[in-house]
Amino acid sequence: LQDPTYTRVYMVNVVVVVPKILTKYTNVSVSLSFQLEWSNCNHAHMTVMESLDALDQLVDQSDPDVDFPNSYHAYQTAEGIRRAHPDKDWFQLVGLLHDIGKILALWGEPQWSVVGDTFPVGCKFQNSIVFRDSSFSENVDDKDPRYNTLHGVYKPNCGLENVLMSWGHDEYMYQVMTFNKCPLPEEGLCMIRFHSFYPWHTHGDYMHLCNEKDQKMLPWVKEFNQFDLYTKSTDLPDVKSLKPYYQSLINKYCPGKLHW
Ligand SMILES: [Fe+2]
Ligand SMILES: [Fe+2]
Repeated sequence: LQDPTYTRVYMVNVVVVVPKILTKYTNVSVSLSFQLEWSNCNHAHMTVMESLDALDQLVDQSDPDVDFPNSYHAYQTAEGIRRAHPDKDWFQLVGLLHDIGKILALWGEPQWSVVGDTFPVGCKFQNSIVFRDSSFSENVDDKDPRYNTLHGVYKPNCGLENVLMSWGHDEYMYQVMTFNKCPLPEEGLCMIRFHSFYPWHTHGDYMHLCNEKDQKMLPWVKEFNQFDLYTKSTDLPDVKSLKPYYQSLINKYCPGKLHW
């Protein structure tokens, strides 16, 4: 692992292979079964800080930019938001929380079902999805006439809240926040739920499923995305000194032990 050539080959493999497996296996039935398994939040009872600390054991195989533990990325994102939006404590907290759903990978779920871009299932996979042209040939929904038309099972502009997304850490963390009735504003919940939905927030796709509320949320999700992307650096944050501040935000919005 010390050999830089080996490390580079390893990184290329996981960065390409994880999304390709994801696009092969992700379909309506798989996404529904993950939803059913996890959305009743009866797997663990722990605080936000406990789950965040647990992420130190995880290195996200799909992310080419980060080769240090995820809790650092959480603090870096939150601090970036804090500098730009000192008045919005909920936004800063979203920065800290947004990737905690990756804890699913520590609990045994395969990485392809946890990390990587997300996209709607139940309707035609759009060209803006990563590896759309090369990795969907074995995806069963791509050949299913119920699911491979533009709108599929959805009504035009039905709203993203009525759309089944490919399962991942975004959707899971959103489910945890709503299950535990954490009073984050709608914008914050949307950032958590759709931050990996690159076909939408970066490529402007899937507008045929969006309603007015989604149009209002989109600028917020984009605003969040810049901090998710550009605060990744090797300049690691001093987590110990930051913890008391973020604990106070956790106490305000998601106190005590949550159901996961
Ligand atoms: Fe993420
Ligand atoms: Fe992130």
